[in-house]
Amino acid sequence: MTDFYILGFSNFKTEQILLSVGIMIMYSMTIVGNLVISIIISLVPNLHTPMYFFLCNLSVVDVIYVSSSLPKLLSITITQDNRISFAGCISQLYFFTFSAACDILVLTSMAGDRYVAICKPLQYTLIMNRRVCGTMSAMCWTVSAVNSLLLTLLTSVLDFCKSREISYFLCDLKTMTALSSSDTTSREIFILTEDIIIGFVPFSLTVASYVQIISTILKIRSSETRLKAFSSCTSHLTTVILFYGPLLILNMKPESEYSNKNDYFISLLYVAVVPMLNPFVYSLRNKDVLDAVKKLRGSCHDYFHKYS
Ligand SMILES: *[C@@H]1O[C@H](CO)[C@@H](O)[C@H](O)[C@H]1NC(C)=O
Repeated sequence: MTDFYILGFSNFKTEQILLSVGIMIMYSMTIVGNLVISIIISLVPNLHTPMYFFLCNLSVVDVIYVSSSLPKLLSITITQDNRISFAGCISQLYFFTFSAACDILVLTSMAGDRYVAICKPLQYTLIMNRRVCGTMSAMCWTVSAVNSLLLTLLTSVLDFCKSREISYFLCDLKTMTALSSSDTTSREIFILTEDIIIGFVPFSLTVASYVQIISTILKIRSSETRLKAFSSCTSHLTTVILFYGPLLILNMKPESEYSNKNDYFISLLYVAVVPMLNPFVYSLRNKDVLDAVKKLRGSCHDYFHKYS
């Protein structure tokens, strides 16, 4: 098995330094932000609710997501050595596909959680109990892991004798399929099926949840309750829009090539920027998290007073 070559940003000579610095900053911020939000959630009992447990899942997935692609991209951009081994490429494909699918499934579970919270508020604690949430999150992880394993195995047996140059910045399914010289018709059918199950179905469920949520909220008489109900969904809704937005823009286009410079930056947005934003979306405008941080700061303060 010989190496592949990731072209990455080699076409954009002038922007390379800026891009490397930008990616490095985004990568560090994603890791730190997601770790901090997970730590806050596990430390603060007030945040031990389904929504925040799922958010914790999302943070862990986002860390895997960026770690599967950005460090390699960074080393390629800095050293200008754009080789990646077959094993490296296949593991990148596995972890990237896994975390992208898991991201989608966790976001969908969160939409379900918000649906129950707003549309069935009285049964909320009954429906979203520990066991149900545990099962849902276990399903997200298992389905994504098995799905990614299947797709990766299918990809690893392809022939790549036509070309080994990846004109993108990571080994993902779309690029690898396009690169292969094998007959890929049956694979394409498989990928389409998978796109429907891991892409279209979760997306439709999310949209359907929000249609229900919004129509329920609009029926609430008191404007204060209405605002409160709506604001318990804004963080999740923002994350959903940020996540699906670039994906939709990229997939709406007829051509499947990542040749265009704009497409390239939209993809980068999707791979590097979106995972970084989640912790901010959930902490900056979210009263629960801000209160929790204040309380934590208070108890740290007390702690240091007592022992100094
Ligand atoms: C994921 O979510 C489940 C269910 O809410 C929770 O029990 C579990 O601790 C979470 N795991 C992580 C790693 O955040």
